[in-house]
Amino acid sequence: MAEAEVGDDVFGEDPTVNRLEGLAADTLDKEAALYVASGTMANLCSLLAHTERGDEVIVGRGSHIFLNEVAGAAVAGGLQFQPIDDRGGHVTAQLVDEAVRGQNIHWPRTRLVCLENTHNLAGGVVMTPAETDAVLEVARRHGLKTHLDGARLFNAAVYLSLPANTLAAGFDSVYICLSKGLGAPVGSLTCGPRDFIERARKYRKMLGGGMRQAGVIAAAGIVALTSMVDRLAEDHRTARYIAEGIHDLLGIQLDLSRVQTNILFLGFSRPDLDAVQVSAQLRQRGILAAPSGSTRMRLVTHHHVTMADAGAVVTAFRDICTSAAPQPAGTAASGSPY
Ligand SMILES: Cc1ncc(COP(=O)(O)O)c(C=O)c1O
Repeated sequence: MAEAEVGDDVFGEDPTVNRLEGLAADTLDKEAALYVASGTMANLCSLLAHTERGDEVIVGRGSHIFLNEVAGAAVAGGLQFQPIDDRGGHVTAQLVDEAVRGQNIHWPRTRLVCLENTHNLAGGVVMTPAETDAVLEVARRHGLKTHLDGARLFNAAVYLSLPANTLAAGFDSVYICLSKGLGAPVGSLTCGPRDFIERARKYRKMLGGGMRQAGVIAAAGIVALTSMVDRLAEDHRTARYIAEGIHDLLGIQLDLSRVQTNILFLGFSRPDLDAVQVSAQLRQRGILAAPSGSTRMRLVTHHHVTMADAGAVVTAFRDICTSAAPQPAGTAASGSPY
Protein backbone atom coordinates (compact mmCIF):
# COMPACT_ATOMS: atom_id res chain seq x y z
CA MET A 1 0.00 0.00 0.00
CA ALA A 2 2.81 2.38 0.85
CA GLU A 3 4.44 1.77 -2.52
CA ALA A 4 1.25 1.92 -4.60
CA GLU A 5 1.46 4.00 -7.76
CA VAL A 6 -1.49 6.41 -7.65
CA GLY A 7 -3.42 8.87 -9.84
CA ASP A 8 -6.89 10.39 -9.90
CA ASP A 9 -9.32 7.49 -10.15
CA VAL A 10 -12.31 9.74 -10.88
CA PHE A 11 -10.56 10.41 -14.20
CA GLY A 12 -9.64 6.72 -14.55
CA GLU A 13 -5.98 7.62 -14.00
CA ASP A 14 -5.05 5.55 -10.96
CA PRO A 15 -2.88 2.71 -12.31
CA THR A 16 -3.29 0.56 -9.20
CA VAL A 17 -7.10 0.83 -9.25
CA ASN A 18 -7.06 0.09 -12.99
CA ARG A 19 -4.92 -2.98 -12.33
CA LEU A 20 -7.27 -4.18 -9.60
CA GLU A 21 -10.33 -3.66 -11.80
CA GLY A 22 -8.67 -5.56 -14.66
CA LEU A 23 -7.71 -8.38 -12.33
CA ALA A 24 -11.25 -8.70 -10.95
CA ALA A 25 -12.80 -8.66 -14.43
CA ASP A 26 -10.35 -11.35 -15.62
CA THR A 27 -10.91 -13.47 -12.52
CA LEU A 28 -14.68 -13.52 -13.04
CA ASP A 29 -14.48 -13.61 -16.82
CA LYS A 30 -16.41 -10.34 -17.24
CA GLU A 31 -15.63 -7.44 -19.58
CA ALA A 32 -14.96 -4.83 -16.90
CA ALA A 33 -15.07 -4.05 -13.18
CA LEU A 34 -15.63 -1.06 -10.91
CA TYR A 35 -13.89 -0.54 -7.57
CA VAL A 36 -16.15 0.85 -4.83
CA ALA A 37 -15.94 1.55 -1.11
CA SER A 38 -18.23 -1.21 0.13
CA GLY A 39 -20.44 -4.14 -0.74
CA THR A 40 -23.51 -2.05 -0.12
CA MET A 41 -22.30 0.49 -2.68
CA ALA A 42 -21.43 -2.27 -5.17
CA ASN A 43 -24.93 -3.73 -4.92
CA LEU A 44 -26.61 -0.32 -5.11
CA CYS A 45 -24.58 0.86 -8.14
CA SER A 46 -25.36 -2.48 -9.82
CA LEU A 47 -29.09 -2.31 -9.14
CA LEU A 48 -29.26 1.29 -10.35
CA ALA A 49 -27.32 0.46 -13.50
CA HIS A 50 -29.67 -2.41 -14.39
CA THR A 51 -33.00 -0.67 -13.78
CA GLU A 52 -35.28 2.33 -14.20
CA ARG A 53 -37.43 3.97 -11.52
CA GLY A 54 -40.54 1.95 -10.74
CA ASP A 55 -39.03 -1.40 -11.72
CA GLU A 56 -39.37 -4.44 -9.50
CA VAL A 57 -36.42 -6.53 -8.34
CA ILE A 58 -36.77 -10.15 -7.19
CA VAL A 59 -34.62 -10.80 -4.10
CA GLY A 60 -34.36 -13.44 -1.39
CA ARG A 61 -36.34 -12.62 1.74
CA GLY A 62 -33.21 -13.23 3.83
CA SER A 63 -30.79 -11.55 1.44
CA HIS A 64 -28.44 -8.76 2.46
CA ILE A 65 -29.78 -6.57 -0.35
CA PHE A 66 -33.32 -6.87 1.02
CA LEU A 67 -32.62 -6.73 4.75
CA ASN A 68 -29.47 -4.79 5.41
CA GLU A 69 -28.87 -2.10 2.80
CA VAL A 70 -31.02 0.67 4.30
CA ALA A 71 -33.56 0.55 1.44
CA GLY A 72 -31.01 2.29 -0.78
CA ALA A 73 -32.57 0.81 -3.91
CA ALA A 74 -35.92 2.38 -2.98
CA VAL A 75 -34.42 5.71 -1.94
CA ALA A 76 -31.92 6.21 -4.75
CA GLY A 77 -33.51 4.11 -7.48
CA GLY A 78 -37.26 4.22 -6.89
CA LEU A 79 -37.16 0.41 -7.00
CA GLN A 80 -39.56 -2.03 -5.43
CA PHE A 81 -38.43 -5.39 -4.10
CA GLN A 82 -40.37 -8.59 -4.46
CA PRO A 83 -38.92 -10.86 -1.74
CA ILE A 84 -39.12 -14.62 -2.28
CA ASP A 85 -38.30 -17.55 -0.02
CA ASP A 86 -34.59 -18.26 0.29
CA ARG A 87 -34.74 -20.36 3.45
CA GLY A 88 -31.67 -22.47 3.87
CA GLY A 89 -29.83 -20.18 1.47
CA HIS A 90 -31.40 -21.58 -1.68
CA VAL A 91 -33.67 -19.88 -4.21
CA THR A 92 -35.54 -22.14 -6.60
CA ALA A 93 -36.13 -21.46 -10.28
CA GLN A 94 -39.82 -22.19 -9.76
CA LEU A 95 -40.21 -19.46 -7.14
CA VAL A 96 -38.46 -16.97 -9.39
CA ASP A 97 -40.68 -17.98 -12.28
CA GLU A 98 -43.80 -17.45 -10.16
CA ALA A 99 -42.58 -14.06 -8.94
CA VAL A 100 -42.13 -12.56 -12.41
CA ARG A 101 -44.91 -10.11 -13.26
CA GLY A 102 -46.80 -10.44 -16.50
CA GLN A 103 -48.37 -7.67 -18.57
CA ASN A 104 -50.95 -5.74 -16.56
CA ILE A 105 -51.58 -2.01 -16.37
CA HIS A 106 -51.50 -2.22 -12.56
CA TRP A 107 -48.16 -3.94 -12.17
CA PRO A 108 -44.58 -2.74 -12.11
CA ARG A 109 -42.13 -4.17 -14.62
CA THR A 110 -40.01 -7.02 -13.28
CA ARG A 111 -36.51 -6.15 -14.35
CA LEU A 112 -33.89 -7.90 -12.26
CA VAL A 113 -33.26 -11.06 -10.22
CA CYS A 114 -30.63 -11.02 -7.44
CA LEU A 115 -29.05 -14.09 -5.84
CA GLU A 116 -26.58 -14.31 -2.94
CA ASN A 117 -23.77 -16.91 -2.89
CA THR A 118 -22.70 -17.82 -0.25
CA HIS A 119 -25.83 -16.86 1.66
CA ASN A 120 -24.88 -14.94 4.77
CA LEU A 121 -28.01 -15.23 6.86
CA ALA A 122 -28.45 -18.92 6.09
CA GLY A 123 -24.98 -19.50 7.53
CA GLY A 124 -22.58 -19.18 4.61
CA VAL A 125 -24.48 -21.81 2.61
CA VAL A 126 -23.44 -22.45 -0.99
CA MET A 127 -25.62 -22.52 -4.10
CA THR A 128 -24.31 -24.89 -6.77
CA PRO A 129 -24.02 -23.98 -10.47
CA ALA A 130 -26.90 -26.37 -11.20
CA GLU A 131 -29.16 -24.34 -8.88
CA THR A 132 -28.06 -20.92 -10.14
CA ASP A 133 -28.17 -22.03 -13.78
CA ALA A 134 -31.82 -23.03 -13.36
CA VAL A 135 -32.61 -19.53 -12.03
CA LEU A 136 -30.59 -17.88 -14.80
CA GLU A 137 -32.52 -19.87 -17.40
CA VAL A 138 -35.84 -18.58 -16.01
CA ALA A 139 -34.50 -15.02 -15.96
CA ARG A 140 -33.33 -15.31 -19.57
CA ARG A 141 -36.70 -16.69 -20.64
CA HIS A 142 -38.43 -13.62 -19.16
CA GLY A 143 -35.84 -11.18 -20.50
CA LEU A 144 -34.65 -10.22 -16.98
CA LYS A 145 -31.22 -9.04 -15.89
CA THR A 146 -29.39 -10.98 -13.19
CA HIS A 147 -27.09 -9.79 -10.40
CA LEU A 148 -25.10 -11.96 -8.02
CA ASP A 149 -24.25 -10.72 -4.54
CA GLY A 150 -20.97 -12.58 -4.33
CA ALA A 151 -19.72 -10.94 -1.14
CA ARG A 152 -18.37 -14.41 -0.32
CA LEU A 153 -18.24 -15.91 -3.82
CA PHE A 154 -14.70 -17.16 -3.28
CA ASN A 155 -15.84 -19.11 -0.20
CA ALA A 156 -18.41 -20.83 -2.41
CA ALA A 157 -15.75 -21.48 -5.07
CA VAL A 158 -13.35 -23.00 -2.55
CA TYR A 159 -16.12 -25.11 -1.01
CA LEU A 160 -17.09 -26.51 -4.42
CA SER A 161 -13.48 -26.71 -5.69
CA LEU A 162 -14.52 -24.68 -8.73
CA PRO A 163 -13.04 -21.47 -10.16
CA ALA A 164 -15.03 -18.37 -9.21
CA ASN A 165 -15.72 -17.58 -12.87
CA THR A 166 -17.73 -20.80 -13.14
CA LEU A 167 -20.01 -19.56 -10.36
CA ALA A 168 -20.20 -16.11 -11.95
CA ALA A 169 -20.95 -17.41 -15.45
CA GLY A 170 -24.28 -16.36 -16.90
CA PHE A 171 -24.90 -13.49 -14.45
CA ASP A 172 -25.07 -10.03 -16.02
CA SER A 173 -23.23 -8.63 -13.01
CA VAL A 174 -21.40 -10.00 -10.01
CA TYR A 175 -20.21 -8.17 -6.92
CA ILE A 176 -17.24 -9.48 -4.94
CA CYS A 177 -15.93 -8.20 -1.62
CA LEU A 178 -12.27 -7.77 -0.78
CA SER A 179 -12.74 -6.96 2.88
CA LYS A 180 -14.49 -10.06 4.21
CA GLY A 181 -12.68 -13.39 4.07
CA LEU A 182 -10.09 -12.00 1.66
CA GLY A 183 -8.87 -9.70 4.41
CA ALA A 184 -8.32 -6.33 2.66
CA PRO A 185 -9.10 -3.36 4.92
CA VAL A 186 -11.67 -1.95 2.52
CA GLY A 187 -13.22 -2.29 -0.91
CA SER A 188 -15.49 -4.23 -3.23
CA LEU A 189 -15.91 -4.58 -6.98
CA THR A 190 -18.85 -5.03 -9.26
CA CYS A 191 -18.11 -6.77 -12.53
CA GLY A 192 -20.05 -7.06 -15.78
CA PRO A 193 -20.32 -5.82 -19.37
CA ARG A 194 -18.48 -2.59 -20.24
CA ASP A 195 -21.62 -0.49 -20.80
CA PHE A 196 -23.08 -1.67 -17.49
CA ILE A 197 -19.86 -0.73 -15.69
CA GLU A 198 -19.91 2.74 -17.26
CA ARG A 199 -23.45 3.31 -15.95
CA ALA A 200 -22.46 1.95 -12.53
CA ARG A 201 -19.43 4.30 -12.53
CA LYS A 202 -21.69 7.28 -13.01
CA TYR A 203 -23.90 6.12 -10.11
CA ARG A 204 -20.81 5.62 -7.93
CA LYS A 205 -19.98 9.28 -8.54
CA MET A 206 -23.56 10.32 -7.79
CA LEU A 207 -23.43 8.46 -4.47
CA GLY A 208 -20.23 10.26 -3.51
CA GLY A 209 -18.10 7.19 -4.06
CA GLY A 210 -15.69 8.63 -6.62
CA MET A 211 -12.29 8.40 -4.91
CA ARG A 212 -9.11 10.14 -5.92
CA GLN A 213 -5.76 8.44 -5.11
CA ALA A 214 -7.52 5.20 -4.23
CA GLY A 215 -4.55 3.11 -5.36
CA VAL A 216 -3.36 3.06 -1.74
CA ILE A 217 -6.31 0.89 -0.74
CA ALA A 218 -6.67 -0.85 -4.10
CA ALA A 219 -3.15 -2.25 -3.60
CA ALA A 220 -4.45 -4.27 -0.65
CA GLY A 221 -7.25 -5.49 -2.91
CA ILE A 222 -4.69 -6.85 -5.36
CA VAL A 223 -3.05 -8.79 -2.52
CA ALA A 224 -6.49 -10.07 -1.51
CA LEU A 225 -7.35 -11.37 -4.97
CA THR A 226 -3.93 -12.84 -5.73
CA SER A 227 -2.94 -14.42 -2.43
CA MET A 228 -5.94 -14.80 -0.11
CA VAL A 229 -8.37 -16.94 -2.07
CA ASP A 230 -6.99 -20.47 -1.72
CA ARG A 231 -6.36 -20.09 1.99
CA LEU A 232 -10.11 -19.64 2.61
CA ALA A 233 -10.11 -23.44 2.98
CA GLU A 234 -8.40 -22.87 6.36
CA ASP A 235 -11.30 -20.69 7.51
CA HIS A 236 -13.71 -23.42 6.48
CA ARG A 237 -11.70 -25.92 8.52
CA THR A 238 -11.67 -23.75 11.64
CA ALA A 239 -15.40 -23.07 11.35
CA ARG A 240 -16.08 -26.78 10.97
CA TYR A 241 -13.86 -27.58 13.93
CA ILE A 242 -15.76 -25.13 16.15
CA ALA A 243 -19.13 -26.40 14.92
CA GLU A 244 -18.26 -30.02 15.60
CA GLY A 245 -16.87 -29.09 19.00
CA ILE A 246 -19.98 -27.28 20.26
CA HIS A 247 -23.02 -28.61 18.39
CA ASP A 248 -23.78 -31.26 21.03
CA LEU A 249 -23.67 -28.88 24.00
CA LEU A 250 -26.91 -28.75 25.94
CA GLY A 251 -28.82 -25.62 24.91
CA ILE A 252 -26.94 -25.03 21.64
CA GLN A 253 -28.73 -25.50 18.34
CA LEU A 254 -26.47 -25.81 15.36
CA ASP A 255 -27.20 -27.46 12.02
CA LEU A 256 -23.91 -29.03 10.96
CA SER A 257 -25.12 -29.44 7.39
CA ARG A 258 -25.21 -25.64 7.09
CA VAL A 259 -21.61 -25.17 8.18
CA GLN A 260 -20.10 -25.28 4.72
CA THR A 261 -17.83 -22.26 4.71
CA ASN A 262 -16.66 -19.76 7.37
CA ILE A 263 -19.95 -18.78 9.06
CA LEU A 264 -21.74 -20.46 11.97
CA PHE A 265 -25.15 -19.48 13.24
CA LEU A 266 -26.04 -20.78 16.69
CA GLY A 267 -29.39 -20.88 18.39
CA PHE A 268 -29.74 -20.94 22.18
CA SER A 269 -32.61 -23.02 23.50
CA ARG A 270 -31.97 -22.60 27.25
CA PRO A 271 -33.35 -19.52 29.03
CA ASP A 272 -30.16 -19.26 31.08
CA LEU A 273 -28.11 -18.92 27.89
CA ASP A 274 -28.70 -15.44 26.51
CA ALA A 275 -26.88 -14.64 23.27
CA VAL A 276 -25.96 -11.10 24.33
CA GLN A 277 -24.61 -12.27 27.67
CA VAL A 278 -22.77 -15.20 26.13
CA SER A 279 -21.14 -12.86 23.64
CA ALA A 280 -20.04 -10.60 26.53
CA GLN A 281 -18.47 -13.60 28.24
CA LEU A 282 -16.75 -14.60 25.01
CA ARG A 283 -15.44 -11.07 24.57
CA GLN A 284 -13.76 -11.29 27.98
CA ARG A 285 -11.79 -14.19 26.54
CA GLY A 286 -10.88 -12.25 23.39
CA ILE A 287 -13.51 -13.97 21.22
CA LEU A 288 -15.76 -11.65 19.23
CA ALA A 289 -19.21 -12.95 18.30
CA ALA A 290 -22.30 -11.16 16.97
CA PRO A 291 -25.53 -11.78 18.90
CA SER A 292 -28.83 -11.35 17.13
CA GLY A 293 -31.50 -10.81 19.74
CA SER A 294 -31.26 -13.07 22.77
CA THR A 295 -31.42 -16.46 21.07
CA ARG A 296 -29.14 -16.29 18.02
CA MET A 297 -25.47 -15.65 17.42
CA ARG A 298 -23.16 -15.48 14.41
CA LEU A 299 -19.54 -16.58 14.47
CA VAL A 300 -17.19 -16.03 11.52
CA THR A 301 -13.70 -17.44 11.10
CA HIS A 302 -11.01 -15.59 9.17
CA HIS A 303 -7.31 -15.24 8.39
CA HIS A 304 -6.40 -14.40 11.98
CA VAL A 305 -8.26 -17.32 13.56
CA THR A 306 -5.87 -20.24 13.91
CA MET A 307 -6.73 -23.84 14.72
CA ALA A 308 -5.50 -23.14 18.29
CA ASP A 309 -7.94 -20.21 18.46
CA ALA A 310 -10.72 -22.50 17.24
CA GLY A 311 -9.85 -24.86 20.09
CA ALA A 312 -10.08 -21.94 22.53
CA VAL A 313 -13.54 -21.07 21.17
CA VAL A 314 -14.72 -24.64 21.77
CA THR A 315 -13.33 -24.58 25.32
CA ALA A 316 -14.98 -21.23 26.01
CA PHE A 317 -18.40 -22.48 24.87
CA ARG A 318 -18.03 -25.65 26.90
CA ASP A 319 -17.15 -23.60 30.02
CA ILE A 320 -19.96 -21.09 29.50
CA CYS A 321 -22.59 -23.74 28.79
CA THR A 322 -21.71 -25.81 31.83
CA SER A 323 -21.44 -22.86 34.25
CA ALA A 324 -24.43 -20.75 33.06
CA ALA A 325 -26.78 -19.81 35.89
CA PRO A 326 -30.55 -19.79 35.33
CA GLN A 327 -31.90 -16.28 34.62
CA PRO A 328 -35.05 -14.78 33.14
CA ALA A 329 -35.27 -15.06 29.36
CA GLY A 330 -35.91 -12.18 26.99
CA THR A 331 -34.11 -9.42 28.88
CA ALA A 332 -31.38 -8.91 26.31
CA ALA A 333 -30.96 -5.82 24.18
CA SER A 334 -31.14 -6.46 20.45
CA GLY A 335 -27.85 -7.30 18.79
CA SER A 336 -26.52 -7.08 15.25
CA PRO A 337 -28.86 -7.34 12.24
CA TYR A 338 -27.54 -10.85 11.63
C1 LIG B 1 -24.03 -10.99 1.46
C2 LIG B 1 -23.59 -9.59 1.73
N1 LIG B 1 -23.72 -8.67 0.76
C3 LIG B 1 -23.34 -7.40 0.95
C4 LIG B 1 -22.77 -6.99 2.13
C5 LIG B 1 -22.39 -5.54 2.28
O1 LIG B 1 -21.03 -5.34 2.42
P1 LIG B 1 -20.47 -4.00 3.12
O2 LIG B 1 -20.56 -4.25 4.59
O3 LIG B 1 -19.07 -3.92 2.61
O4 LIG B 1 -21.30 -2.88 2.69
C6 LIG B 1 -22.60 -7.91 3.17
C7 LIG B 1 -22.01 -7.50 4.45
O5 LIG B 1 -21.92 -8.26 5.38
C8 LIG B 1 -23.03 -9.25 2.96
O6 LIG B 1 -22.92 -10.18 3.92
